Amino acid sequence: MILIVGGAGYIGSHLVKELVIQQEIIVLDNLSSGHENLIDERVRFVKGDLGDRETLNQLFSEFPIEAVMHFAANSLVGESVGNPYKYYYNNVSNTLTLLDVMLDHEVKNFIFSSTAATYGIPETSLITEATVTNPINPYGRSKLMIEHILEDFHQAYGLNYIVLRYFNAAGAHASGEIGEKHDPETHLIPIVLEHLLGKRESISVFGTDYDTHDGTCIRDYIHVTDLANAHILSLNALLEEKLQTATYNLGNGKGYSVKEIIDTCEKVTGVEANVVLSDRRPGDPATLVASSEKIYHELGWKAEYDLEDIIESAWTWHNSILVGSSN
Ligand code: UFG
Repeated sequence: MILIVGGAGYIGSHLVKELVIQQEIIVLDNLSSGHENLIDERVRFVKGDLGDRETLNQLFSEFPIEAVMHFAANSLVGESVGNPYKYYYNNVSNTLTLLDVMLDHEVKNFIFSSTAATYGIPETSLITEATVTNPINPYGRSKLMIEHILEDFHQAYGLNYIVLRYFNAAGAHASGEIGEKHDPETHLIPIVLEHLLGKRESISVFGTDYDTHDGTCIRDYIHVTDLANAHILSLNALLEEKLQTATYNLGNGKGYSVKEIIDTCEKVTGVEANVVLSDRRPGDPATLVASSEKIYHELGWKAEYDLEDIIESAWTWHNSILVGSSN
């Protein structure tokens, strides 16, 4: 049995939909940013906090949990700058409690959702796992702190772990049943699609003077189902004792600028956007593109979906929530 902490969130719910085919699952989520209707019906759901020792003790005592996958984090860069306590409390302190209770119950397999934000402003255009980590905001620092804690816990307590550093997660499940749903929404692709559906008057491009080919920021967009598949390969590698520890980037290896994203959304949907050129958003590095060669060589993972697939799946999902068929 696998415990998925944060399984009602965007990425967690997509992992659950794939993993439930091969594993028994318990989802623990406090629904602070997750949604109960994203949770697959085949899993056991417990509403609770990852920092709640009593709830965790009960879960680990009652169920034969073999591994924990941890998606329950606050993940907005801008918010983390204004409210670092929230980020260090939830992302670091609560995760520490989860790890401590796991170890008390001798559960020693852990998959951790980390982020490209651990790299800060990289000096290279293609980021590998060996690129220096130098986060520039509390969100990135909170994730890197847990990465260091995991290294130490492996040495001291024999905790086995895989860290997955996501680049820009996007897209929706092929079933059309679940997709990206944040409140408030701050991510580029859902914002553009909401605009094209008439839910927003315009889209702002944050910064047009970056050192990139068209002056707008470049990111590596990765389909959420590709992320889910990387988690399953990682979990199996731990359970089959092929690996004790690893850190992997998860991206497509291809960067798209904000303008290119808007153009592709227009092309896929056939709707023209009303674009407003705006100032830079604080904390945005110009370019973040992943090399995911390491996980390809070690676990055979590579991204299957390209940018058009990502946008098409997200468009289907956004249309379905508009007509209320899914939610
Ligand atoms: N952008 C706009 N207009 C918008 C929204 C975003 O121009 O309305 C731009 C941003 O400035 C950025 C790009 O689109 O250049 C992508 O922005 P997102 O907010 O979609 O994603 P981020 O790259 O900021 O964030 C993602 C993850 C974070 C992670 C970060 C690592 O969502 O969790 O990558 O840098 F920390």
